[in-house]
Amino acid sequence: MALKQVSLKLKSILFMLASNHSKTTKAYWEQRYAAANTGWDIGNPSTPLKTYIDQLEYKNLKILIPGAGNAYEAEYLFFKGFTNVHVLDIAKAPLEAFKKRLPNFPTAHSIQGNFFKHEGAYDLILEQTFFCAFPPTEANRKQYASHMHKLLKPNGKLVGLWFDIPLTGDMEKRPFGGTSKEYLNYFKPYFSVKTFEKCYNSIPPRLGHELFGIFKKR
Ligand SMILES: C[S@@+](CC[C@H](N)C(=O)[O-])C[C@H]1O[C@@H](n2cnc3c(N)ncnc32)[C@H](O)[C@@H]1O
Repeated sequence: MALKQVSLKLKSILFMLASNHSKTTKAYWEQRYAAANTGWDIGNPSTPLKTYIDQLEYKNLKILIPGAGNAYEAEYLFFKGFTNVHVLDIAKAPLEAFKKRLPNFPTAHSIQGNFFKHEGAYDLILEQTFFCAFPPTEANRKQYASHMHKLLKPNGKLVGLWFDIPLTGDMEKRPFGGTSKEYLNYFKPYFSVKTFEKCYNSIPPRLGHELFGIFKKR
């Protein structure tokens, strides 16, 4: 193996080892926000999640948005009268920006922390560009599925969007993708699949590249 390949491989291994380490992860994301390197941020709630939210009836559902970033979906829920919405992010900057935009959002529901260590019991968890953000090791992806399951109440649902784009093997280049088959391998042991299909109402730049899913806790 050429020296450059060895060094790249070593970099990937070190990155993977550190991948769920809160301090490293936090520093990485803090730096992305500080540099305004936030290409994922669409500035609004995504159409598919907005459409899903619009048909929810019970305003007291306990909802979590992990890796919420600027949390436009939480803002949308809040203004629609949902009373028990929680946002979680490892980085401080987006939570501070959220607080400025929504000073009346309950402070205790805006949580800075690592999803993989978060504890709670929710009726609904919304996924929006979080799965694609952490290093795509098999261990991390398995842990995501098992931890989502743990964080849901009986009959709770995990709902959201997962990128339908190839996983390239490049450990630096987000978003990290996957296929429907791969996602189902991780989710099926923990969830019954209500829907998991090509998303018809993605925002234009993501159209054809996302899957919309509704997974019910087993
Ligand atoms: C690609 S961004 C998406 C943000 C937001 N969901 C959106 O669509 O605009 C990923 C977010 O996940 C957060 N994050 C990454 N790893 C995390 C972890 N282990 N626990 C909690 N948040 C995490 C990052 O700080 C970042 O805000």
